[in-house]
Amino acid sequence: MRPSKRLERIPPYAFAQLERKIAEKLAAGVDVISLGIGDPDRPTPPLIVEAMQEAVTEAETHRYPSNRGRADFRAAVRDFYERRFDVTLDAEREIIPAIGAKEAIFNLNLAFLDPGDYALAADPGYPVYTSGPWLAGAEPVLMALEPERGFTPDLEAIDDEVAAASKLMYLNYPNNPTGAVVPEGFFEHVVAFARANEILVVHDNAYSEIVFDGYRAPSFLATPGAKEVGIEVFSLSKGYNMTGWRCAVVVGNAEAIETYWRLKTNIDSGLFEAVQLAGVAALSPDCDAEVASMNELYRRRRDLVCEALRGIGVEVTPPHGTIYVWAPVPDGFASSAAYCEHVLEQAAVVLSPGAIYGPAGEGWFRISLTTPDDRLLEAVERLGALGG
Ligand SMILES: Cc1ncc(COP(=O)(O)O)c(C=O)c1O
Repeated sequence: MRPSKRLERIPPYAFAQLERKIAEKLAAGVDVISLGIGDPDRPTPPLIVEAMQEAVTEAETHRYPSNRGRADFRAAVRDFYERRFDVTLDAEREIIPAIGAKEAIFNLNLAFLDPGDYALAADPGYPVYTSGPWLAGAEPVLMALEPERGFTPDLEAIDDEVAAASKLMYLNYPNNPTGAVVPEGFFEHVVAFARANEILVVHDNAYSEIVFDGYRAPSFLATPGAKEVGIEVFSLSKGYNMTGWRCAVVVGNAEAIETYWRLKTNIDSGLFEAVQLAGVAALSPDCDAEVASMNELYRRRRDLVCEALRGIGVEVTPPHGTIYVWAPVPDGFASSAAYCEHVLEQAAVVLSPGAIYGPAGEGWFRISLTTPDDRLLEAVERLGALGG
């Protein structure tokens, strides 16, 4: 049995060695605390769970859903985008459900890329921005997010030939893994670049609802001209503690959405209608207070982590959004993996080495804020005890 050449091109999972070490420690009875994965630890808000409970008893939700999505779900997304981002969407042509952002991001590659095509991918970035193009037989081209540019890529530095052969561009703000929010004017620059090079921009909006310090994350589609060149993938996973529910939408350019729909009708059978009805509850203003209280929790955790890092001499910028703290590897370690291994050995705390998110992540590490307070406190105490 041989896997496809496409699958064989996917590099081995960079976290594998660390995972083996974690498993060994756990087997030896060591109390390991993981600050690795970004999966909200708090339950889905009751309002959403109750909407699901009711929806799931309705026989009408039990049949194959339409890949176009329920009219009431699309209307809820339209109203949310208007209320939250000041973006007007046509619920018939500019909104379609996705079975999580990961599904959408992967399938967009199949919908738009042929062998020989390029997809421009933020580096460091969500791994599907590179594995997706590879699995579609195309090539990802990494755009390094530069700290001195607020973790944006230098679009001017992209080679003309590469730009001409690129059909997609993946961006994500608020950003995983760096926690950066989009600098003023950057999206305008992206629209101009995409227009000049006929590139479809895919803005991965997985974290817009997790923000602090009064910051409000914009939609890419609020940028003038964005809808002509782009789509946005909005996920309910992180902001509403719904990672297991698989609820997202693709919104924006109608032609791109029609192409994605055409692909999807050949691949899956749509998003469970009861999940769509739970999504309606999540996106209603009634849920705003839940989101605000989660943000307060993450802000407290962020401050706790940043203080502990400073205590051991790590210079860190507190992020205005996301569930991550991104920090430079202290001097004296050869790589992000070496530092994370050291912390695991000495403090039994799991951190994510920056290099697993792409070569530009080397020299950094990521802490996820999705660990219950008592364990997070214990973890930062252990980090503090490592000394500066
Ligand atoms: C930037 C980014 N995009 C997309 C996803 C996946 O979201 P979903 O659960 O909707 O598939 C994640 C999850 O970690 C993410 O960090």
